[in-house]
Amino acid sequence: MTVHQAPLGLRAYFSSFIAFFLVVFSFSIFLNHIQNQVATIDNKDNQNNTLVNIQEQSPNQAPFVDSQDQSPFLVDVDVTQLKNKNENQDQTEFVDKDDERNELKERVISIGGDNGSISHGGEEKDKCDWSVGRWVYDNVTRPLYSGPQCMFMHDEVACDKYGRKDIRYQHWRWQPNGCDLPRFDANIFLEKIRGKRMVFVGDSLNRNQWVSMVCLVESVVPEGQKTRTFNGSLMSFKVLSHNVSIDFYWSPLLVESNCDNPIIHRVSSRIMRAYKIESHAKNWMDADIIVFNSYLWWKKPGMKMKVLYGTFEDGDAVLEEVEMFEGFEVALKSWSQWLERNLNNTDKRMFFVSLSPTHVWGQEWGAAPDATCYSETKPIHKEGYRSDGSDYGMMHAAERVIENLKPKGVNVQIVNITQLSEYRKDGHPSIYRRQYVNLTQAQLANPKSYSDCTHWCLPGVPDVWNEFLYAYITSS
Ligand SMILES: *[C@@H]1O[C@H](CO)[C@@H](O)[C@H](O)[C@H]1NC(C)=O
Ligand SMILES: *[C@@H]1O[C@H](CO)[C@@H](O)[C@H](O)[C@H]1NC(C)=O
Ligand SMILES: *[C@@H]1O[C@H](CO)[C@@H](O)[C@H](O)[C@H]1NC(C)=O
Ligand SMILES: *[C@@H]1O[C@H](CO)[C@@H](O)[C@H](O)[C@H]1NC(C)=O
Ligand SMILES: *[C@@H]1O[C@H](CO)[C@@H](O)[C@H](O)[C@H]1NC(C)=O
Ligand SMILES: *[C@@H]1O[C@H](CO)[C@@H](O)[C@H](O)[C@H]1NC(C)=O
Ligand SMILES: *[C@@H]1O[C@H](CO)[C@@H](O)[C@H](O)[C@H]1NC(C)=O
Ligand SMILES: *[C@@H]1O[C@H](CO)[C@@H](O)[C@H](O)[C@H]1NC(C)=O
Repeated sequence: MTVHQAPLGLRAYFSSFIAFFLVVFSFSIFLNHIQNQVATIDNKDNQNNTLVNIQEQSPNQAPFVDSQDQSPFLVDVDVTQLKNKNENQDQTEFVDKDDERNELKERVISIGGDNGSISHGGEEKDKCDWSVGRWVYDNVTRPLYSGPQCMFMHDEVACDKYGRKDIRYQHWRWQPNGCDLPRFDANIFLEKIRGKRMVFVGDSLNRNQWVSMVCLVESVVPEGQKTRTFNGSLMSFKVLSHNVSIDFYWSPLLVESNCDNPIIHRVSSRIMRAYKIESHAKNWMDADIIVFNSYLWWKKPGMKMKVLYGTFEDGDAVLEEVEMFEGFEVALKSWSQWLERNLNNTDKRMFFVSLSPTHVWGQEWGAAPDATCYSETKPIHKEGYRSDGSDYGMMHAAERVIENLKPKGVNVQIVNITQLSEYRKDGHPSIYRRQYVNLTQAQLANPKSYSDCTHWCLPGVPDVWNEFLYAYITSS
C-alpha cells in the first residue's frame, strides 16, 4: 500500500527533513570537534595504539550504542519491537524443560573438536550445509578468546565484565550435521588477507560481528602492531605487520537515510533516499572483502518508512510512505543496482549476513509470559525452533535479489546464521552490558524491562558467524 503525500504534506516533510539534517549536521560538527580535541591515545602501555575516543569525553554519547538504550541519542528499536504476536498458538512444543535430555546433550564434550575441524573448507562446503546442525557443550575448545583480554572489546557486549556470572554461554560449539567447521586460526586468516581491506557494512548486529572478528584476530598480533580508530561512521582495526584493515561502516539501511549518523540515529520517523547509496559506497567500495547486513531497522512495528525519490535541489523530490517491507525491497534494489553498475566482474568477496533473531518473548520457548532472555542459561534444543518475530520473508527477498545479481557478474554469498542463532536464547547480554543512560528505580526493580535480547555477548554466537566467514575466505 502506497500513500502519496499531498503537496502540503510534502512541504512539511521537506522542512522537517531539512531541519533534521541541520540539527544532525551541527551536532556532527560538534562531535567532530570533540573528537579532534580528544584524539586520545588508548594507553594500554603502548604508544602506537591510537584510539580517537569520544566515549571518555561524553559518556552518554557513546558511538556504539543503540537498540535497547533509552538515550535520546540512540536507536529507538525497543525491546518489544519484534513482536508480531497474533494468535495464542500452542507453545508447549518449544518447552525447554526436558532437562534430562538437555543435560545429556550438554554432557557431550567434544574432545576431537579441534582435530576434526581442521578440514580446509573447500569441497566440504559444497556437500555440507553449515547452517544446519546443533550446539555442543564444549568447555575444552570454547571460547576462542578471552573477553576481558580482548583489547578492543566493546562494553555493550562485554557480558562477563558487566557481571554475568554464568559463563556457560561461552562454551558452546556449533556442530554442523555431517561435517565440521574449520577452526578459526587468526594467523592463517591474517596471512590470507595480507595487504587487504575487509569492511563490515550495516547495523549494530554487524558491528557486533565486527567486534567479534577483531577479538578473534587481535590476540595473535603483538602490541604496537595493531590500532583501532573511530572516524564518524567508520571504525577501523588495523594490523600493521600485515597491512590489513578490518573495518566497520555504519549504514543500517544500506541506502542513505536519516539514521546514518553513527551516534544520533534515534529518530521518530525514518526517511530513506531511494537509489542514493554513493555517499556510503565510497567508504567501502575499495575493500577486497565486504560483509553486508540489513534487517532489524526494517522491523519497527507500526512505523512506516518514508521513501524519498529524487532530490529537492532538482525539484523532482517525491516522498512516498510505504510499509517497512517495501522500503526494504527498495533498499535492496538500490543496493543491488549499485553493485551491478560498479562492482560487476571484480574479484572482491562479498557477503550478506542473514537475519539475527532476538529472544524478547519468553513465551515462544515456553517460559513465563513476561520472561525475556534475562536469566536464560541454556540454548533451546527444539530442532528447527524459530521465533515468530523472525521475518524469513525479508530474507527470501534478499536471497532473490542476490540470486539475480549472479548472472550480472556480482557474486554475493549469503552467510546463513539465522537458524543457529535462533537456538541461543542464552547468548544475549540482557542486563550485563554497559548502560549509557541512568536507569530508573522502576527499571532496576524489573531487570527484564531493560534487558538487551538483541545483541550478543562476546565471546559468543557471532564468533560462529565469523567462523563461517573464515571458512569461506580461507578455502578459496
Ligand atoms: C586428526 O585426524 C587425523 C586424520 O583424520 C589423524 O591422522 C590424526 O591422528 C588426528 N589427530 C589427533 C590429535 O587426534
Ligand atoms: C567442563 O564441563 C564438564 C561437564 O559440565 C565439567 O565436568 C568439567 O569440570 C568442565 N571443565 C572445565 C575445565 O571447566
Ligand atoms: C596495503 O594495503 C592497501 C589496501 O588495503 C594497498 O592499497 C597498499 O598498497 C598496501 N600497502 C603495502 C605497502 O603493501
Ligand atoms: C610503534 O611502531 C613503530 C613502527 O611503526 C615501532 O618502531 C615501535 O617500536 C612501536 N612502538 C611500540 C611501543 O610498540
Ligand atoms: C575521517 O574521514 C573523513 C572522510 O569521511 C576524512 O576526510 C578524514 O581525513 C578522516 N580523518 C581521519 C583522522 O582519518
Ligand atoms: C560493469 O562495470 C563497469 C565498470 O567496472 C561499468 O563500466 C559497466 O557499465 C558495468 N556494467 C553494467 C551492466 O552495469
Ligand atoms: C538459511 O537456512 C535456513 C535453514 O537452516 C533456511 O530456512 C533459509 O531459507 C536459509 N536462507 C536464509 C537466507 O536465511
Ligand atoms: C547518572 O547517575 C550518576 C550517579 O549515579 C550521576 O552522577 C549522573 O549525573 C547521572 N546522569 C544523568 C544523565 O542523569
